Amino acid sequence: MRILSLHCRGYRNLQDVFFEPGPDVNVIWGQNAQGKTNLLEALWLFTGGRSFRGTKDSELVMHGTDKAELELCFFSEEREQTAAVSIADGRRKAELNGIPLPSPGRLVGHIGAVIFSPEHVALVRGGPADRRVFLDAALCQIHPGYVRLLNRYQHTLSQRNALLKDIPRHRELEDTLPIWDARLVSDGEMIVRERRKYLECLAQKAAKIYDGLSRGQEKLSLSYLCTANDFSSSLRQERERDIRQGFTGTGPHRDDMEILLDGCAARSCGSQGQKRSIVLSLKLAEAKMLEAVSKEKPAVLLDDVLSELDNSRQDYLLNHLSGCQVFITCCEPAQVQLLQVGKLFHTEAGTVIPGAPEE
Ligand SMILES: Nc1ncnc2c1ncn2[C@@H]1O[C@H](COP(=O)(O)OP(=O)(O)O)[C@@H](O)[C@H]1O
Ligand SMILES: [Mg+2]
Repeated sequence: MRILSLHCRGYRNLQDVFFEPGPDVNVIWGQNAQGKTNLLEALWLFTGGRSFRGTKDSELVMHGTDKAELELCFFSEEREQTAAVSIADGRRKAELNGIPLPSPGRLVGHIGAVIFSPEHVALVRGGPADRRVFLDAALCQIHPGYVRLLNRYQHTLSQRNALLKDIPRHRELEDTLPIWDARLVSDGEMIVRERRKYLECLAQKAAKIYDGLSRGQEKLSLSYLCTANDFSSSLRQERERDIRQGFTGTGPHRDDMEILLDGCAARSCGSQGQKRSIVLSLKLAEAKMLEAVSKEKPAVLLDDVLSELDNSRQDYLLNHLSGCQVFITCCEPAQVQLLQVGKLFHTEAGTVIPGAPEE
């Protein structure tokens, strides 16, 4: 997959930007708060997902205007294609090759991308929710059906939790719990199956990459941590506790991914450098998974990360991304010790124009 051009109108601080990246490495440089991440985020929206910064759709529209419009030309499946995303009245809509899609999520599978930013260190340092978000986001990009499954599970979960809160005052409501439990179990078990299957492949790829990065010094292993091995019976067993607490205490919404280095939890025993290598391995493995499923190389978005990686990790990263179209943001292109930079773009106050810093 290759991005040929992106046109943004009224997206965040990008008033009217026409961006034509090159086929390999693109470096987008400029001071803070000029619009570099906004540009990557605009590209990301074409994966069919939400903002990777967790921003609500309505906040993506430029302040003081009522509509954001994005148009993308890309080369994929051996032909040139177009996609459009617009946001107005808090609603996001999408088109593919001129045809309106029933929902923006239907873009999934057409334009693949992986995003890597300094906040991703939370994958190792943060709590289980950060790791679930990673797994779920990766799966959403592979299976459009997974998005619907996850949404339905979340919906059932909030209904069950609302009911749990009402039960102490209206004991007879307890009779309706099994209806919600049955739905939660059937969707929940499917979610766990999908996550396990994905993680099994990801773990192999990530371990291999980590091995290369650390030159075989220690072994990375990943595994799925289930809070409820038999979801149905644990819902039954924990019912009284759930009613007392007013929420559902076990299930896929509580699960985690365990990250071990030579058998020791990376969160507590990994050094700063080891944690960075783990995140890098996870992200590269995610890109390889996406490529294996879609048979197209995903776009790789590196937001402010290169300055954090030493030269040998930068080298490893760039060598393993050969053939991918890469978008790198940074303050100073000199921070990017690349073997070769394809195209440079300067971002200033919401404009993006080709160019290098003056000597
Ligand atoms: N909806 C919006 N309308 C106008 N400007 C916005 C909007 N959302 C964010 N911004 C502006 O975008 C800028 C941040 O852009 P960003 O891409 O994060 O910067 P950086 O170049 O540091 O990556 C800030 O100046 C912020 O005020
Ligand atoms: Mg930024």
